[in-house]
Amino acid sequence: MESKTPHLRHFILDSIPVAMVSMDANLTITSFNKRAEQLTGYTAKEAIGKPCHTILHSSRCAENCPLQTVQEGDMGTGLEAEFINRYHEHIQVRIGTAAIEDDKGNFMGFLEVIEDISRKKSLEREKNNFLFMVAHDMKSPLIAIQGLTRRIREHHDEMSKEHLNEYLKIITKASEQLEEQVKDFLTYSLQATANIKLKIEDVTVSGLINALVKRHQPLASEKKLTITQDFSSAGQIQADTQQLQRVFENLLDNAIKFAATAGKISISSQETDDEFIVKFKDNGPGIAAEELPFIFDAFYQSASGNNGHGLGLSAVKAIIREHGGRVSVKSNPGDGTTFTVRLPK
Ligand SMILES: Nc1ncnc2c1ncn2[C@@H]1O[C@H](COP(=O)(O)OP(=O)(O)OP(=O)(O)O)[C@@H](O)[C@H]1O
Ligand SMILES: [Mg+2]
Repeated sequence: MESKTPHLRHFILDSIPVAMVSMDANLTITSFNKRAEQLTGYTAKEAIGKPCHTILHSSRCAENCPLQTVQEGDMGTGLEAEFINRYHEHIQVRIGTAAIEDDKGNFMGFLEVIEDISRKKSLEREKNNFLFMVAHDMKSPLIAIQGLTRRIREHHDEMSKEHLNEYLKIITKASEQLEEQVKDFLTYSLQATANIKLKIEDVTVSGLINALVKRHQPLASEKKLTITQDFSSAGQIQADTQQLQRVFENLLDNAIKFAATAGKISISSQETDDEFIVKFKDNGPGIAAEELPFIFDAFYQSASGNNGHGLGLSAVKAIIREHGGRVSVKSNPGDGTTFTVRLPK
């Protein structure tokens, strides 16, 4: 009977839907469940035996070690923090900590429970961004329609035919603009709720990107940008060609949009046993650290703003996730931005 206990415990730990990491009194990692592997990007083999700060990076570590509060007797539960994994992805988490004691109450070490709340948080933000944008974008055509219809109502007697026609034209245009916006929002809501159905086939990623670069060359030339491509291998994978094209098009579009005039964009690839990795690097203004966790949210745009809708990266993330891959960003203000896409082979 006894010999079965460790197995069961092991399976229970791996079945728990939150990351669980235990540490000894010196903060050396002693166990690491499956969710901890998924969240951090490290395997249990890599993590066990390492000091916790080399594997677990969260915004709380810099301010006030969550485990420190346990030592001081204050049970730390439900601290919200930003977690940074092996791939530099910023993930919003809730951290719970506890002291591990044996049955005599002797202190043995620490337990840290990390729950990934990024999906929940990003849905909340998306909803808020969405409502804000609906209200914001519909306001100007509505104001035009209201103002001009009032003017026509009050002054139509003394208005010339040309004047009246001019006003009616503006009203028609504003209402068409409103209709366009409503259509856009409906399309977005549909896309957001419908699961992306992939059409998996053989794809050569380098060929796909090469064709895209050619297509975007005129736009890049206008800004005097140099785009370099450096593929260590062709990148034969199984994926949905059209959806992947959307991914790379969005990343290239952003790189061109944000790169400095006469700047450089470099696209490079790497291959491991099980992944094909593509990097898009630009030398644009970069993204502030506090904005990084939000840029994959629908409708999120940096304060400086641009002509887009803030939807490109949310589509990129959804498509890559559907392929079983991951996308991450590394950026420093003034130092450009690098997006990394990892696709399973
Ligand atoms: N290469 C980049 N350099 C600097 N900032 C970037 C870069 N790529 C994305 N961003 C930031 O992330 C935000 C979201 O990007 P995303 O592609 O989702 O939207 P967008 O480009 O603004 O609009 P859309 O893609 O809908 O046309 C951008 O508005 C910008 O603030
Ligand atoms: Mg974009």
